Amino acid sequence: MSKFSGFYKKTIEERMGILKEEKGVTDEEAKILLDSGSLGLDTANRMIENVIGVNHLPIGIAPGFMINGKEYEVPMCIEEPSVVAAAANGAKLAAKSGGFTADADEPIMVGQAQLVGIEDGALGRFEQAKAEISVMAKELCAGIEQYGGGFREVRARELETGRGKMLLVEFDVDVRDIMGANTINTLLEGIAPLLVERIGGKSRLRILTNLATKRKARAKCVWKKEVLGEETIEAILDGYELAKNDIYRCATHNKGIMNGVDAVAVATGNDWRAVEAGIHSFASMGGYKPLNKYYKDGEGNLIGEIELPLAVGTVGGAIWTNPIAQISLKILGAKTARELSMVMAAVGLAQNFAALRALGTEGIQKGHMKLHASNLAVVAGASGDEIEKVAAMLIQEGRYTAEAAKKALAQLRGE
Ligand code: MEV
Repeated sequence: MSKFSGFYKKTIEERMGILKEEKGVTDEEAKILLDSGSLGLDTANRMIENVIGVNHLPIGIAPGFMINGKEYEVPMCIEEPSVVAAAANGAKLAAKSGGFTADADEPIMVGQAQLVGIEDGALGRFEQAKAEISVMAKELCAGIEQYGGGFREVRARELETGRGKMLLVEFDVDVRDIMGANTINTLLEGIAPLLVERIGGKSRLRILTNLATKRKARAKCVWKKEVLGEETIEAILDGYELAKNDIYRCATHNKGIMNGVDAVAVATGNDWRAVEAGIHSFASMGGYKPLNKYYKDGEGNLIGEIELPLAVGTVGGAIWTNPIAQISLKILGAKTARELSMVMAAVGLAQNFAALRALGTEGIQKGHMKLHASNLAVVAGASGDEIEKVAAMLIQEGRYTAEAAKKALAQLRGE
């Protein structure tokens, strides 16, 4: 029998024992895994299953985001060098041009209940029962009413599929400042028996959609010609045009936007997979396209706009369990989920702006490699002021490999 069967019943200590025996995890490695930082092992053990440790990622601040006249210092949690610097850079140039304007929809999440094996006339039966279904949906969402949210609307549509006709009953719920997955899924599971009773068929999936098109945030900036210079504006427009016309570039263009959006999602304890799924499926509606757009106004200034579905919260879930998420939100100063989503949209736009500006002019490798060189130095075993010295040697040589870092360190130590 596998030593891993019943792993979930073991204590973290026992799990570590198994990992040492079965996978050769050393004492030193176990210590690293079990260094749980501010989260604490007990909390981590309650957050997911079969816990064996905690991973750590850096959090940095991108300062100076002027959004709707308010300044934000934005916490970003990410492993990639240059992302925070690029966001800060985009924000600085935006602030010099008057900052971002942003807005967001009401926080409406949509849940889908699937009925299969339905007989003709299902839509009619749904319409007849709609009032009763609405009353029950309202009751099932009553918990959120005290915060100003609650059930808003229900509708149904028939789908012709390879496995016959299905009915999709969709519920809109205003979830206010939570992400809303649990509220929606609880509603759907609670109401499914009534749907079957009134409409017929068999209940199958009952789950929210991550394509949160009713919960979009928008940000805009007019980067002044005097701040950017005409050549930079043309370079950004050329870069954007390429993303519009070539899906291979578009994927990377949007990845750059997600560098910013995800980093804020992670720092604030939000479900970044939900954010990713929503945004990429949104980008694919009508053919995969850039998530933002650029154009020039009559005076030659560069206008950048972005619109993203953003199902994020400022309360509930991991935001409450993870102390770092709460501290990040405190630093950010976003009071509501809508405000957070506006900041995320502005960060995504700033991130892409900074990437296109660098890519279309001096390139990104110089800045990127500076941090990368320090990482290589650490991996090679450098410590203290050796790190900067080894990094400087790598930059001077223009060689960024582990081998080069080892050699440089040995040279520095006179070995
Ligand atoms: C790297 O993580 C992100 C970029 O590739 C984005 C882009 O190319 O626009 C620099």
